[in-house]
Amino acid sequence: MSMSPIPKTAPFAEEEIDLLNRVVGTASPVQRAWLAGFLAGLDASGATLVPQLPAASARPAEPLTIVYASESGNSEKLAGDLAKAARKNGLKPTLIDMADLELSALTTAKRLVVIAATWGEGEPPARAMRAYNELMGEGAPRLDGVEFGVLALGDTAYVEFCAIGRKIDERLAELGGKRVTDRVDCDLDFAGPAAGWIGDAVKALAPPNAGRVIEVDFGAKPAATPSTDIFEAEITEHVDLNSSRSDKETIHLALSFEGGAPAYEPGDSLDLYTENDPVYVDELLKIAGLTGDEQLRAEFIKSRDVTTLSLKTVETYASSTGHQYVKALLADGQARDWIAGRQLIDLIATFPIALDADKLRALTRPLAPRAYSIASSRREVGDEAHLLISAVRYESHGRARKGVASNYVAERLKRGGHVRVRLKPNKHFALPAADKDVIMVGPGTGVAPFRAFVQERRATQTKGRNWLFFGDRTFTHDFLYQLDWQDALRDGSLTRMDVAFSRDTPEKVYVQHKIWDRRADLIEWLEAGAYFYVCGDAKAMAKDVRAALVRAYAGVKALSPEAAEQAVVILEREKRYLQDTY
Ligand SMILES: Cc1cc2nc3c(=O)[nH]c(=O)nc-3n(C[C@H](O)[C@H](O)[C@H](O)COP(=O)(O)OP(=O)(O)OC[C@H]3O[C@@H](n4cnc5c(N)ncnc54)[C@H](O)[C@@H]3O)c2cc1C
Ligand SMILES: Cc1cc2nc3c(=O)[nH]c(=O)nc-3n(C[C@H](O)[C@H](O)[C@H](O)COP(=O)(O)O)c2cc1C
Repeated sequence: MSMSPIPKTAPFAEEEIDLLNRVVGTASPVQRAWLAGFLAGLDASGATLVPQLPAASARPAEPLTIVYASESGNSEKLAGDLAKAARKNGLKPTLIDMADLELSALTTAKRLVVIAATWGEGEPPARAMRAYNELMGEGAPRLDGVEFGVLALGDTAYVEFCAIGRKIDERLAELGGKRVTDRVDCDLDFAGPAAGWIGDAVKALAPPNAGRVIEVDFGAKPAATPSTDIFEAEITEHVDLNSSRSDKETIHLALSFEGGAPAYEPGDSLDLYTENDPVYVDELLKIAGLTGDEQLRAEFIKSRDVTTLSLKTVETYASSTGHQYVKALLADGQARDWIAGRQLIDLIATFPIALDADKLRALTRPLAPRAYSIASSRREVGDEAHLLISAVRYESHGRARKGVASNYVAERLKRGGHVRVRLKPNKHFALPAADKDVIMVGPGTGVAPFRAFVQERRATQTKGRNWLFFGDRTFTHDFLYQLDWQDALRDGSLTRMDVAFSRDTPEKVYVQHKIWDRRADLIEWLEAGAYFYVCGDAKAMAKDVRAALVRAYAGVKALSPEAAEQAVVILEREKRYLQDTY
């Protein structure tokens, strides 16, 4: 087939003929037939093609730099949506993960959008940490005249709501950037506000008179992306992996999918759609004086976040009820401290006032799903997916508290029951090539994805070695998936395992201590190209593990603390230090 089907004699300018040949020349017969029909139909309808002609879009598109700082993929996905919208509006987007960002790239950007999530307690996503610190640091370059806009993702349940997006927005202006669209701070139900912001941002950034370019994608189709629809799964196993004498409860949940499991890969998670505890909802309605409203009760159990207490909730309560004490709490600047460890129920119990259903509903946001790492490989379990879920229970301000989703799973889901889930792919926490070694650090439920890794490597008979660090409270009562690890060590799919049980010895031993103990071998593996994975608690563990690895480099290779830090930074930049922490 000729690659230049449009002849030079066609009634178009030379560069238009080139453009048409670029599109039509590579099109399949089906695509050509579609185009012929489409153009014929367009003529018949009398519609004009003027804004859609290749000549109209041949005006060189204006560049747009889109930077995203993401951990669990939401900002990354929105950056992709923005790129698509930008392309349709005469812009040529370049997408940059903040993990790979060189600040010099910003100085040459004419237009810049940053979509940034906040993690930890007001921290940047782990991968974005280096570039974020450089941007905030004294050495950051001037960005005079760069047109910019920032979209912030976060969760109002955190005191530092959208802190990173806010700080980046302020910093870009400080460095001389010109804000052309105001920042929007999104809560967990970000889809609507983010789509609205993207529309506004594209309008503000698009070159004048860009028109609207109808994109016809004649290129190779991208690899099929796995379905992220909501699936209903049947619970085929529901087992507490802690012994009855443990003070923890960690549920192994096996889900089976009629018609096939979502196409997950090791390292991916599932979002699990939860319900509230009816006991809690009844208590809340009683305190609010709304007992007996069955419709409200059902709605609250199924679809509203009735536990989170944020500053925004307190503000809404003060304005909608006019409660003097709540107003005073806000005016004194004490509300931030007051909400720590408290829930919505505490606000209403402490500051009671007459409420109606609408006022109470306005204090809540939609109930969000919770993410759980997938603990299985499809190559080993077929159409199932396994999860490992620790029941969150604690006491604060004199009240026993229960995590919503984890206790929905632990206390109310049963074998034979059903639950709704949605795949959350995570290509940033995937296994490396088959011949590469992996070191996995996963205490507590952090071990879940590593069960998937080990199953996958067994099923695919990879050559690379696999070393697992696991930790929990006690060997006897809390050794999650103990039999699986023993089997894996026996059949060779796990090369090595080190365990740390913090409450078995008078002095607490954690995975980071084991890393230090095994530092010589560990550094040898890393020098030979091993990948280092960390999953689980973000508050303390992830930081302690990283610090232990820095010390290990310093000790084994006789490096200064700065050079040892640099060795770990290099691992991070090479994407051989990977984290999935929460
Ligand atoms: C990518 C990812 C993967 C995850 N994988 C797993 C996994 O494999 N297994 C797993 O069990 N979890 C996992 N999680 C965590 C999980 O998503 C939930 O956050 C967890 O189960 C708690 O949800 P919940 O609804 O039970 O609790 P919630 O109702 O959301 O309550 C949790 C909140 O309670 C408060 N809280 C908790 N403990 C205390 C305390 N001691 N004192 C005071 N306040 C406290 C905190 O504000 C906390 O944010 C993962 C999270 C992410 C983001
Ligand atoms: C462990 C954890 C910590 C978080 N910390 C914050 C925070 O301090 N402030 C905030 O506004 N949002 C916080 N969030 C919410 C995330 O910013 C939010 O889920 C966002 O949509 C994630 O975007 P991403 O998928 O692009 O990383 C946190 C979420 C998790 C799971």
